[in-house]
Amino acid sequence: MELSSSTSHMLLILALLILSFMLNFSSAAYNVTYDSRSLIIDGQRKLLISAAIHYPRSVPSMWPGLVQLAKEGGVDAIETYVFWNGHELSPNNYYFGGRFDLVKFCKIVQQSGLYLILRIGPFVAAEWNFGGIPVWLHYIPGTVFRTDNEPFKYYMQKFMIYIVNLMKKEKLFASQGGPIILAQVENEYGFYETAYGEGGKRYALWAARMAVSQNTGVPWIMCEQFDAPDPVIDTCNSFYCDQFKSLSPNKPKIWTENWPGWYKTFGGRDPHRPPEDVAFSVARFFQKGGSLQNYYMYHGGTNFGRTSGGPFITTSYDYNAPIDEYGLARCPKWGHLKELHRSIKLCEHALVNSEPKVLSLGPLQEADVYEDASGVCAAFISNMDDKNDKMVEFRNMSYYLPSWSVSILPDCKNVAFNTAKVGSQTSTVEMIPTDLQPSTNLPNKDLKGLQWDVFVEKAGIWADANFSINGLVDHINTTKDTTDYLWYTTSLLVDETEGFTRNGSSPILIVESKGHALHVFVNQKLQASAFGNATVSPFIFRSPISLKAGKNEIALLSMTAGLQNAGAFYEWTGAGPTQVRIEGLKNGTVNMSSYKWTNRIGLQGENLRIYDSIGLNGVNWVSTSEPPKEQPLTWYKAELNPPPGDEPIGLDMIHMGKGLAWLNGQEIGRYWPRKCSKHEECVQQCDYRGKFSPDKCSTGCGEPSQRWYHVPRSWFKPSGNVLVIFEEIGGDPTSIQFSRRKISSVCSHISEDHPSFDFEHFQKDGAGDYNNKATVSLKCQKNTQISAVKFASFGNPVGTCGSYAQGECHDPSSISIVKKVCLNKTECALELTKDNFDMELCPGSVKKLAVEVVCT
Ligand SMILES: *[C@@H]1O[C@H](CO)[C@@H](O)[C@H](O)[C@H]1NC(C)=O
Ligand SMILES: *[C@@H]1O[C@H](CO)[C@@H](O)[C@H](O)[C@H]1NC(C)=O
Ligand SMILES: *[C@@H]1O[C@H](CO)[C@@H](O)[C@H](O)[C@H]1NC(C)=O
Ligand SMILES: *[C@@H]1O[C@H](CO)[C@@H](O)[C@H](O)[C@H]1NC(C)=O
Ligand SMILES: *[C@@H]1O[C@H](CO)[C@@H](O)[C@H](O)[C@H]1NC(C)=O
Ligand SMILES: *[C@@H]1O[C@H](CO)[C@@H](O)[C@H](O)[C@H]1NC(C)=O
Ligand SMILES: *[C@@H]1O[C@H](CO)[C@@H](O)[C@H](O)[C@H]1NC(C)=O
Ligand SMILES: *[C@@H]1O[C@H](CO)[C@@H](O)[C@H](O)[C@H]1NC(C)=O
Ligand SMILES: *[C@@H]1O[C@H](CO)[C@@H](O)[C@H](O)[C@H]1NC(C)=O
Repeated sequence: MELSSSTSHMLLILALLILSFMLNFSSAAYNVTYDSRSLIIDGQRKLLISAAIHYPRSVPSMWPGLVQLAKEGGVDAIETYVFWNGHELSPNNYYFGGRFDLVKFCKIVQQSGLYLILRIGPFVAAEWNFGGIPVWLHYIPGTVFRTDNEPFKYYMQKFMIYIVNLMKKEKLFASQGGPIILAQVENEYGFYETAYGEGGKRYALWAARMAVSQNTGVPWIMCEQFDAPDPVIDTCNSFYCDQFKSLSPNKPKIWTENWPGWYKTFGGRDPHRPPEDVAFSVARFFQKGGSLQNYYMYHGGTNFGRTSGGPFITTSYDYNAPIDEYGLARCPKWGHLKELHRSIKLCEHALVNSEPKVLSLGPLQEADVYEDASGVCAAFISNMDDKNDKMVEFRNMSYYLPSWSVSILPDCKNVAFNTAKVGSQTSTVEMIPTDLQPSTNLPNKDLKGLQWDVFVEKAGIWADANFSINGLVDHINTTKDTTDYLWYTTSLLVDETEGFTRNGSSPILIVESKGHALHVFVNQKLQASAFGNATVSPFIFRSPISLKAGKNEIALLSMTAGLQNAGAFYEWTGAGPTQVRIEGLKNGTVNMSSYKWTNRIGLQGENLRIYDSIGLNGVNWVSTSEPPKEQPLTWYKAELNPPPGDEPIGLDMIHMGKGLAWLNGQEIGRYWPRKCSKHEECVQQCDYRGKFSPDKCSTGCGEPSQRWYHVPRSWFKPSGNVLVIFEEIGGDPTSIQFSRRKISSVCSHISEDHPSFDFEHFQKDGAGDYNNKATVSLKCQKNTQISAVKFASFGNPVGTCGSYAQGECHDPSSISIVKKVCLNKTECALELTKDNFDMELCPGSVKKLAVEVVCT
């Protein structure tokens, strides 16, 4: 028995060994090196397009779809940071589960056939809490981050080695047949190095050498590192990197962060970078000898829980990226870049095998021509004029170049793509509200409707105090970021003879705080709140308060909203109240700063974990169908059915104040529909021309900075879903809804003078004319079809997707032809030819076709 069981064991092990041997063989090792032109993969120079997708900013069930959509968008590689503080929860206590399953993410990239760029850091900035470094490290005595400091270097190296060994063990480096072709150490250190003096220089050198000594078999990069030592490659991060040059003539030109949008802050505007300008920046980069470009972000995703940094970065990290927060392609940006990538790829051979000839075609116009000895030729011609379109002559042909644009000629003759001409489809998305549905596994649900369980926290010290001390402690030093919340309480004796107790005028409380937010309670009543913002974190609270004669309890609820994530010595930035005083008492101003303050870390509900199954019943919830509204410090809990359908879900918190939300114990994150000032600068329509900056094309002035909070579908169960909300200020929980994110319509809009390039024949044939008639193409999402044609007009239609209108020039059969070709199809294409339209219409004018369809 014993023997046979161990024999079968041995056989099993043998079989597994053989299997793993075979699997290793199936992905052969390959060699990644570089020269001045590009990375060289197994001897071949490559031009690479990469897409940043951060694994913890979505959930594992979304990863395959996101990676696939990136691949369809024409990228060669996925890039991610590694998030140290998500992995090493306390010294030597590692976590790689759930959203932090790094190996699973890498393998999904590998299975998709894409490369992977692993930016280990482990400092990452990334608008991520504390820049990715664990908060505990700040409290190891003697530690100073990111300089020649022994404790810091010790823990950094230990984590770096841990990650590299994990990747090696899973055979994830290219040298082992895995997808990783590049790795990064540190991150944008060059900006701050001088602030650290000689220690900074020594540290940068140490970091580079330490990384190289890991023997991963793949090159290391350091972005924005102005003294990166050999063989580490220094790389560029910016909105434009066409003018970037590596420090060293033998390094390729690599762009690690092209920002196709920008992040958002609570109280801030909604930034948009126009697709024409993103494409322009990428085309310029490859025109000027670039070899690898990474979109930061390609999918921004969500800062779940308390993972956002800043402070004040929103829970949404949508970034106006080509894939939106919810995982849907953002069109036309996604499609426009896909066409760009396809066009650049057609030029790859010429680009990596020849030196460019630069021809001036005008004061702000130039051609970069790449022609190899065998006559293979590709050209990029650009118009840098940000106001005027231009007609240029190139190789005896005329080309029309819109202002601030690049045309790509993969054969030095036919234009495959112009960055300013958006021919790919546009889509509009809607958030379709659905009421919260009570869970079907609850008894009597029909009788009572939606029931809420309510628990109201006490303002101030809710159980034992953590400590009392004369004076005000630093918030972050006290909580060590185990929670956003810290109570500071004291009492104030008010004399019977104070005038205001008779005449009704109120004294003023003034609190100076380093940040980030504050609610003031007196005798359990919320008085007022004050907040800093992403530009100025410190703030002053100044408000009348109601006092009574005798003893008054003063309770300050101080809050952080994401810890500082970048800057020299950023880890020393404090938070919380520093000065408290009262004006308007008989004694004049009373300075309360050095009073005896009693502190309590966190909320009672947090401490008892009443948001997940561990502590759900830790308090006496009061069940009601009419939960209190505008009630501060209130926990709400409801059991729900999932919203219908399979669209991505956003939790609509527009009628709530500020707080935290969970579903089934999973952290949705901080919510705060804080309005952006209406006095900020916003645009109706964005002019893509000219240099972009994050403030250039914003919307959302006067509107809540974040209304919807992504709740991944995979977090829902068929019934009995527990939604828990902690509301700080007061809101209306009965107005909370789920919204389903749906592509409501798909549009395409093309002018008869915008020929469509015939990629297929070009790749097969070589020389010739590849300009087909202008074509409108429409494509619905998988498993949906065009069910209605909302608008179609050939002529001079006006407006944009969702608001097209006929002009005075209109072919009346437009709708019927579009219906005939497109109805009930997943995708369709229509050429602007006389077979389809009345080309004689309105002679002398350039006509266009605009179509809007519904996919269901
Ligand atoms: C990798 O490629 C470089 C040149 O591209 C070559 O010098 C080197 O020997 C190769 N290394 C291996 C392990 O094949
Ligand atoms: C352009 O035309 C001139 C004059 O006809 C001719 O000499 C030249 O070769 C042409 N260039 C190209 C690139 O075709
Ligand atoms: C604060 O007090 C609570 C309750 O006594 C305790 O569980 C917690 O560990 C204390 N935290 C600190 C940082 O002292
Ligand atoms: C109320 O009493 C306060 C304190 O004595 C005094 O400063 C204030 O002027 C009085 N206000 C009115 C309206 O009488
Ligand atoms: C941030 O706060 C400062 C100081 O209160 C204020 O001047 C500034 O306008 C605020 N900025 C924004 C974007 O709200
Ligand atoms: C936090 O505590 C440390 C150690 O006591 C101290 O050096 C530091 O100044 C404190 N930080 C702030 C912001 O008060
Ligand atoms: C006002 O001054 C008196 C006399 O110095 C003192 O006893 C009292 O505590 C003071 N009141 C407050 C609120 O500080
Ligand atoms: C209040 O007292 C604190 C602590 O004693 C002191 O640092 C601060 O300067 C005082 N504030 C004012 C406005 O006098
Ligand atoms: C599309 O499908 C619907 C429902 O199946 C059908 O009624 C309609 O005739 C179809 N239209 C076309 C143009 O095929």
